[in-house]
Amino acid sequence: MAGIYVHIPFCRKACHYCDFHFSTSLKTKAGVLNGIHLEALQRKKSLAHQEIKTIYLGGGTPSLLNSSELENILKAIYTHYSVSSTPEITLEANPEDITDAVVKNWIKLGINRLSIGVQSFNEDILSWMNRSHNSTQAALSVKIAQDAGISNISIDLIYGVPHRTPKDWMSELKSAISLNTPHISSYCLTIEPETVFGKKAAKGEVLASPNSASSAEFITLVDNLKDAGIHFYEVSNFSKLGFESKHNSNYWNRVDYLGLGPGAHSFLDGTRSWNVSNNALYAKGVKTGALVSQSETLSNIDSYNEYVMTNLRRREGIDPKWIANNYGVTISLNFQDILTRYEDSKDLLISENSIKLTQNGFLLADRIASDLFLTHD
Ligand SMILES: C[S@@+](CC[C@H](N)C(=O)[O-])C[C@H]1O[C@@H](n2cnc3c(N)ncnc32)[C@H](O)[C@@H]1O
Ligand code: SF4
Repeated sequence: MAGIYVHIPFCRKACHYCDFHFSTSLKTKAGVLNGIHLEALQRKKSLAHQEIKTIYLGGGTPSLLNSSELENILKAIYTHYSVSSTPEITLEANPEDITDAVVKNWIKLGINRLSIGVQSFNEDILSWMNRSHNSTQAALSVKIAQDAGISNISIDLIYGVPHRTPKDWMSELKSAISLNTPHISSYCLTIEPETVFGKKAAKGEVLASPNSASSAEFITLVDNLKDAGIHFYEVSNFSKLGFESKHNSNYWNRVDYLGLGPGAHSFLDGTRSWNVSNNALYAKGVKTGALVSQSETLSNIDSYNEYVMTNLRRREGIDPKWIANNYGVTISLNFQDILTRYEDSKDLLISENSIKLTQNGFLLADRIASDLFLTHD
């Protein structure tokens, strides 16, 4: 079993918070799309004999490709790989691209899940973020997609927006819940140095939300979604029962995946690799049969640390027996004091079979995970 991720590195506008790999110029589009077709062919051996259960078209903004461009990408995947008869095929879509006719075409191509980048329902916040859509489009796009026939929809929301009042966050959550999607992803706003917000923050013009405000928004998020039957299953992901993202769950379960396109990451047979995050270099490299990429094979320590980081963020937590069997680490002995401290502060729930964060603990997920890391010396 394996997955394929395709990175479409183009956007209409640069959102002020985003440092994913994308370009607002379309001049390399033909070369990149040609590169993706060639890369699918060149790397087919890497997933030979594995059934592809999930395909994720992400970005950037894959919804700005037209139907035949999307069809050609999927055709290349179906030609060179053995795709399951019931794959999960997700497309990341921006609200302004969603119309009845477009969604019906996506369905014809086999796309059966949408991740819609709503981010906020508040006009001022959307324009502050430099989004290409307004608040009416944010909500309407979800309804259009549902009416056109896709019910497996996730929406992205950003919390931790400076100066948003608890009342305004509640109202955003009400709008989100009223759309009745089975999945919601919600990320805390991170101020990345190379973005417009990062540059403004360096001059003191944009201030990150205080931790206490973001923490309060996270707790409101978890509680309100739970009341609506949308359950927390990973620190940024919530779903109705059975609607967890299969593609993302495979990442966390260390299932092999192949990443096609500029900046795309792969994890194959214990080796992580990533394509160059430059559209022109990517297109040229693939065309000459010399894909520009880097790779690393994870050591036992790196692999353990990654397991702890990823799995502590999940509802199930980490499994001490699995760790002992796979990494030879007895976590209860190696980290006895740290575990006791976080258990006493009610941040961790510890049993023989699992070590899980409490709701409070999730606010400290990264710190607790790094306290449980092994070091190389
Ligand atoms: C790379 S984007 C692609 C999705 C799509 N292009 C869109 O904008 O809706 C995936 C998601 O990451 C989240 N994201 C990106 N940068 C972020 C940041 N600095 N802080 C919080 N969330 C961020 C946004 O919610 C976004 O929808
Ligand atoms: S958030 Fe989405 S639309 Fe905005 S710049 Fe990032 S990838 Fe592009």
